[in-house]
Amino acid sequence: MRPFQHYLDTINQAIAAIPYPAAPSQLYEPIAYHMALGGKRVRPVLTLMACEAMGGDAAAAIDAALGIEMFHNFTLLHDDVMDNADVRRGQPTVHRRWNDNTAILSGDTMLTIATQYIARTRNWAVMDLFNQTAIEIYEGQQWDMDYENRNDVSVEEYINMIRLKTSVLLGCALKTGALIAGADAANADLLYQAGVNMGLAFQLRDDVLDVWGDPATFGKEIGGDIMNNKKTFLLINTMLLAHGDDADELRHWLNDRFATRDDKVAGVTRLYERLGVRQLAEDAIASYNDKAVAAFNQVNMPDDDKQAFEALANSLSGRQY
Ligand code: IPE
Ligand code: IPE
Ligand code: MG
Ligand code: MG
Ligand code: MG
Repeated sequence: MRPFQHYLDTINQAIAAIPYPAAPSQLYEPIAYHMALGGKRVRPVLTLMACEAMGGDAAAAIDAALGIEMFHNFTLLHDDVMDNADVRRGQPTVHRRWNDNTAILSGDTMLTIATQYIARTRNWAVMDLFNQTAIEIYEGQQWDMDYENRNDVSVEEYINMIRLKTSVLLGCALKTGALIAGADAANADLLYQAGVNMGLAFQLRDDVLDVWGDPATFGKEIGGDIMNNKKTFLLINTMLLAHGDDADELRHWLNDRFATRDDKVAGVTRLYERLGVRQLAEDAIASYNDKAVAAFNQVNMPDDDKQAFEALANSLSGRQY
C-alpha cells in the first residue's frame, strides 16, 4: 500500500475534476464551493486503501470513493442547517452564505450525484451497503436531534446514536473498498468493524474538539454542541456526576434560553473541567481506537498495510482538526 498522501492526492484530483453544469448556478455553485473547501477526505481515502489492501486496484474504487465523499458532504450541508452552524472548514456554511433552501436543494442534488457515482460500480453489494448506511445516518441524525430535548439520555443511547450518525460511514467506506477488490466476507466484515470502532473514536474526538478545539485548525465554531444542548458523552457524564450546586448550575445552563453564547459555553465548559469528564472521553477514545486496531490486525493483509491502518487510526483519534 502507498502512503496516505498518495491516496489523498488521487482523491483531491478526482474531486477537482468533477464537472458541474453552469446553470442553475444557485444550485451548483454551493456544491462546488463545499467540495472545494477540502476537509480531511478520510472516508474516500479509506475506500482506496481498503481496496488495495485486499488486493484490488485503487483506480477501480475511485467512483465509489467519490460517491462516499459527496454523500458525506451532503450530510454536512443539512447537518449545518439542523445544528444552526455558521462555520465549516474555516468558511461560512452553505446555509449562511446562501440560505436554508439552497442547503436543502443543493444537498439533495449532492445525494443524487453520490448515488450516481455509487451506481457506476455496477456492484449490488456496494449499492446495498451504501443505501443501508445512508438510512442509518438519517436515523442517527434524528436521535441526535431528539436527544437535544431529553435530559435522561444514557451513555449507551449516545454510543448507538454516534454509531449511526458517524461510525457506519467509516465502516461503509472500508467495506466498499474491500467489496470492490473482491475480498471475502470475513475480511470485509472485519474492515467494517474496524471502521465502526474508528468512527466511534472519531465522533468522541469531534465532541471533545467542539469544546476545547482551536477554531483555527478545527474549522468550526467552538461551543456549538453546548449551545444546542447536544447530549454528547461530555454532557451525559456531567449530568450523571453533577450534584448539589453543580447540578443546579447545569440545570440553569440547559434551561436558560436567554444566556449569551459566551456565558453558556464558558459556564458549561467550567463544569466539564470541574467534573473531569474530558478524561473519561479520552479513555473512551483510546478504548474504541484499540478495538479498531485489533480488528485491522485480524484482517488477512500484509503487515505493512496493518501498520498503515493503525497509524491512520491513531492519528485520527488524536487529531486537532
Ligand atoms: C464531520 O466530519 C462530521 C463528523 C462526523 C464529525 P469530518 O470531521 O470528517 O469533516 P471533514 O470532511 O474533514 O470536514
Ligand atoms: C455530524 O455530527 C454527523 C453527520 C453530519 C452525519 P456533528 O453535528 O457533530 O458534526 P459537525 O461537528 O457539525 O461536523
Ligand atoms: Mg453539526
Ligand atoms: Mg449534528
Ligand atoms: Mg460535532
